[in-house]
Amino acid sequence: MDTSFHWLPLAASDTASRVDTLFFTLVAVTGTVTLAIFVVIVWFTVRYHKNSRADRYSPPTRNMAIEAAWIGIPLTLFIAACVWAAYDYGELYRAPADALPVYVVGKQWMWKLQHANGRREIDELHVPLGRPVRLIMTSQDVIHSFYIPAMRIKQDVVPGRYTSIWFTPTVAGEYRLQCAEYCGTDHAGMHGRLVVMQPGEFSRWLEGGAQVPGLAQHGFDLFRQYGCSGCHEPGSSVHAPDLKGLLGRTVHLSDGRSLIADESYVRDSILLPKKDVVAGFEPIMPSFAGQIAEEDIAAIIQYLRSTARE
Ligand code: CUA
Repeated sequence: MDTSFHWLPLAASDTASRVDTLFFTLVAVTGTVTLAIFVVIVWFTVRYHKNSRADRYSPPTRNMAIEAAWIGIPLTLFIAACVWAAYDYGELYRAPADALPVYVVGKQWMWKLQHANGRREIDELHVPLGRPVRLIMTSQDVIHSFYIPAMRIKQDVVPGRYTSIWFTPTVAGEYRLQCAEYCGTDHAGMHGRLVVMQPGEFSRWLEGGAQVPGLAQHGFDLFRQYGCSGCHEPGSSVHAPDLKGLLGRTVHLSDGRSLIADESYVRDSILLPKKDVVAGFEPIMPSFAGQIAEEDIAAIIQYLRSTARE
């Protein structure tokens, strides 16, 4: 066991090096300022103590250069930190198109994860080295937070909506994953491990386990079972939008808005069909709230994702 001291957990993803560089820069800048202030305090204390013979005759009342410096330098530093952090923050949520999707459902007190080929895991996440992985997450009960310190990712997992985050692991190994939001009695026990494997090893792992239909195939079956296909398939008698290749498409809505169809849009359309009605269609779709499990919605989304490649 590694018992040596580390300032931070091993940086094992692209995100980690970016986050660490920003963090240490901020520590260096604020540390320098703090130190400079203390030096000046000590210097003034010695120089101007009661019995010192410092020149106190007609002290200056203005010094434009100093005033400009103490406004200008901190302002520049703060704005630079803000721009830098905002850029990195944006990157955290702009996943590459080829990222491997993993669906995550948090519940008291476990993580349920599912890969695109249908392989499920509980409290464990296996990923290949060097490939971007995108987590599409929701909660079945209360707010949880998906946290992998070595990847420097932490994202709230919220009931009633999808949140998502991505990372590219750069060092193979096993890392701790943890719920980072107090979510009840066994919050502290809601942890597991991330396993970063060599790509070949990962493919073998992915194919192992109980043979289940791929997530997209399962989604297609559910698409029929829940009766979605009755209206949404071309040639059906009911006039409903064609969903082929929906994810990533721009959708124009009846109230004049338009949006890019993502996982949240599909989920909302199933549970709150009156929210985003597609232009040119009647708001006649019934809500499936309370009738469909989160895992089933994830499967249907994966099915819709797969239709883009046909
Ligand atoms: Cu889930 Cu804390």
